[in-house]
Amino acid sequence: MKILKAKDYDGMSRIAANIISAQVILKDNCVLGLATGSSPVGVYQRLIELCANGELDFSRVVTVNLDEYRGLPVTNEQSYRYFMNDNLFNHINIKPENTNVPNGTAPDPAAECARYENLIHALGGIDLQLLGIGNNGHIGFNEPSDAFDCDTHCVDLTESTIEANKRFFSNADEVPRQAYTMGMKAIMQARRIVMVVSGAAKAEIVKAAVCGPITPRVPASILQLHKDVTLVGDEAALSLL
Ligand code: F6R
Repeated sequence: MKILKAKDYDGMSRIAANIISAQVILKDNCVLGLATGSSPVGVYQRLIELCANGELDFSRVVTVNLDEYRGLPVTNEQSYRYFMNDNLFNHINIKPENTNVPNGTAPDPAAECARYENLIHALGGIDLQLLGIGNNGHIGFNEPSDAFDCDTHCVDLTESTIEANKRFFSNADEVPRQAYTMGMKAIMQARRIVMVVSGAAKAEIVKAAVCGPITPRVPASILQLHKDVTLVGDEAALSLL
């Protein structure tokens, strides 16, 4: 694992955006795996700037997002589709039909999971997967559990995740209790992984994921087995490494 330390959130965002930018320049029809949450917002802002300056062309890029809340329609501001449109897709020259997020309102969860898994497979897998890490070590919504889940699945969110994500909702009761998430297979088969981490609150879990035992109780620890992971963090998040 490569570990790149930036001074602050802005520095972290610039480094990660540069890596993604290099990927898009080297392979203009690459498949980017994308994440939501606070960590990648600065990365997306930088990618928007690069695209606006004419330095980056997303016209042939395809994206697959990690996850989506079950039950939220795309019009809901807390849905991850809305987040992606608002924070990235609406501001770059990507074709909307080339952007993929699990459908939170699909009537049949099993069919939606199978559709998403087949889609990733049909695209030939992911060239570069951008990840954040949850306070409990989750990646995507692969929550701590007794075993790693391989395929796209519908997951019951843990209390810790509901607690962490309630900041985006008016109260904890409004946070959906389930979500669709890409499984560990698609993440681990990504040819390159970039994880962004920021803030002192993430320092303990980053240490557990990077230096602790590989266990489904700390889902991100599985990344120790991947051959091309770059962890980009600010000083606070990397302070215990
Ligand atoms: C979101 C996702 C999650 C987040 C994680 C960290 O698509 O996959 O695993 O990366 O919950 O969230 P933030 O960045 O808000 O701390």
